[in-house]
Amino acid sequence: MTFSSANHPVGIIGGTGLTTLSGLEIIGQQQVDTAWGSPSAGLVEGRLGDQPVIFLSRHGNPHRIPPHQVNYRANIQALFEAGVRTVVGVNAVGGIHRDMGPAHIVIPDQIIDYTWGRPSTFFEGELDEVTHIDFTWPYDGDARQILTDAAGGSGAPFSDFGVYGATQGPRLETAAEIRRLERDGCDLVGMTGMPEAVLAAELGMRYVCLGLVVNWAAGKSEHIITMAEIEEAIEKGMSGVKSILEISMAGLGELTPLSRSS
Ligand code: HPA
Repeated sequence: MTFSSANHPVGIIGGTGLTTLSGLEIIGQQQVDTAWGSPSAGLVEGRLGDQPVIFLSRHGNPHRIPPHQVNYRANIQALFEAGVRTVVGVNAVGGIHRDMGPAHIVIPDQIIDYTWGRPSTFFEGELDEVTHIDFTWPYDGDARQILTDAAGGSGAPFSDFGVYGATQGPRLETAAEIRRLERDGCDLVGMTGMPEAVLAAELGMRYVCLGLVVNWAAGKSEHIITMAEIEEAIEKGMSGVKSILEISMAGLGELTPLSRSS
């Protein structure tokens, strides 16, 4: 089946600090169910500029589902069934790279998965064949370029590269764990990047991450990590995230769906 891009809303999965998306002109809200259970919250249908958008709060609204208990499969499946073929995952992250301090925005290009015990594939149960999807480039190149251009236009401080280390949580890391992640090549650390990215890839969706650094990762500053510091960075950085979303929406909406997703 071929779709015209106009049929495809862009999906936005909001994380910590983005439970609702101000600026979204809301058209409706739907509680949906999937074969994998219920998503974290209702799907909020709306428009950002002229672009149809479906917004989903990853941790529920109000914020209550911890990262290791998010039903990532239901979230991605619900967006897919609602017609979404391009997803922007907004993630609060800790900064490891020296240029990625609080309120910095990152559009990562790679991910390392340190999570465990999370249902992380759609391909299980009674299968006709075993499927190993290619995941060399976990983030969609075209969508990353659009976000990068939008970030340049937004005036917000950002980096257009970075390796996202996905940890299990919900606790933050030890300083030694962060040193290990750094040796592995991670530039930022977060708890929600996986399995979201791979599930989107399994359904052939374009997926891209927009990370907002909300604290220096453990051991990267003189202090322990406090909620006050995190809230301050969210307050400071979220307007940049929102303006990148607004600027990029039309371009993301024009992307043709990957053929694997039809
Ligand atoms: N570690 C893991 N996840 C996070 C962090 C962190 O320092 N900050 C925000 N999410």
